[in-house]
Amino acid sequence: MRRLAPMLLAALAVLAAACEKKTQPAPSGEGGAQTAQQAQPAPGGETPAGSDVILLGQVGALTGGQATFGISTRNGIEMAIKEANAAGGVKGKKLAIRVYDNQSKPEEAAQAATRLITQDKVVLILGDVASSNSLAMAEKAQAAGVPMITPSSTNTTVTQKGDFIFRVCFIDPFQGYVMAKFARENLKLGKVAVLQDNKSAYSIDLSDVFTRKFTEMGGKVATTESYSQGDTDYRAQLTAIRKTQPEGIYVPGYYSEVGIIARQAREVGLKVPLMGGDGWDSEKLFELGGTAIQGSYFSNHYSPDNPDPRVQKFISEYKAAYGGVPDALAALGYDAARVAIEALKRAKDLSGPAVRDAIAQTKDFPGVAGTITLDDKRNAVKSAVVLKVGDGKTEYVTTVNP
Ligand code: PHE
Repeated sequence: MRRLAPMLLAALAVLAAACEKKTQPAPSGEGGAQTAQQAQPAPGGETPAGSDVILLGQVGALTGGQATFGISTRNGIEMAIKEANAAGGVKGKKLAIRVYDNQSKPEEAAQAATRLITQDKVVLILGDVASSNSLAMAEKAQAAGVPMITPSSTNTTVTQKGDFIFRVCFIDPFQGYVMAKFARENLKLGKVAVLQDNKSAYSIDLSDVFTRKFTEMGGKVATTESYSQGDTDYRAQLTAIRKTQPEGIYVPGYYSEVGIIARQAREVGLKVPLMGGDGWDSEKLFELGGTAIQGSYFSNHYSPDNPDPRVQKFISEYKAAYGGVPDALAALGYDAARVAIEALKRAKDLSGPAVRDAIAQTKDFPGVAGTITLDDKRNAVKSAVVLKVGDGKTEYVTTVNP
């Protein structure tokens, strides 16, 4: 018995190390449940340098108004990491990810990025979703020479922060054009109103693009009203909008506000369809908007109705793991992580510049939210879909190519 003790202890230590990965908030290479972390150093924050683990970082909203953004993205990333680890990892090492919650705030996102860079020493960062958060993070990542891939931030200026900043989604000049075209050609609208979120770089820019394109196409934007993320009463703006008798209202905001806006629009007597962008995409939209949001339209990165076997395989695996239909954020999180993993495999070493160069070479990558080729501005050029809000789910309407 005595002689067995050291062996037993050693075995226990290995087991403990394995469990640590599962139970501690981070790092969690196996994609175990990540508890919501405030932007604080995670327990067990030893750096992976020289270890058998390659540590990646993610920043996303796990709490606050946009909580479904970070959670869906995290699930998608976890799936990709699990798959990669099951297939042998990268350069003989397993992948792990440390996730920080930005609480739906840009300041927290910036702080979390700094922690990932200076304390955790991650090889690359995945995130954020909301463009204002990604903008704050990109400053830090670029300055430190740590590559960052945002799965889903569409504001043009995000990747303009520098040559270490990438995205695997389309940008808002395209997304704004898509909905302007849809409003003019499919819905045949002549006069519309716009209601934008003044606290969101995404919303302000998308509102601008839509207005420009819709006007160029011969339509008229009768009025542009604004709100601040977190507001709960939009009746004054909606009443002003009603007075202009629009045939539709473009609301390029996030689901958290859009759902409530839809209800209040109906309350003040506006019966016309609402239109929006990817920021609407959340299962919470149906809950918040109820029947008021049904029959409205938004542009998005992917549709769960896409019959492509690759997409359907992703959906059924995601459902089995997380119990719901993946939204675009989950799909883009999965794609961003897979692009990152492929780049890590190709990179000549794991230094920032080597990983950056490898990401930049991404070409014809088969993502579940479209094929990804990164252009010289580090953006992906992809098609968009238009979805109609139905009863508890979206319905695919059309695809628009760039
Ligand atoms: N594109 C949004 C932004 O840049 C984020 C987003 C993407 C939200 C996809 C939902 C779905 O702020």
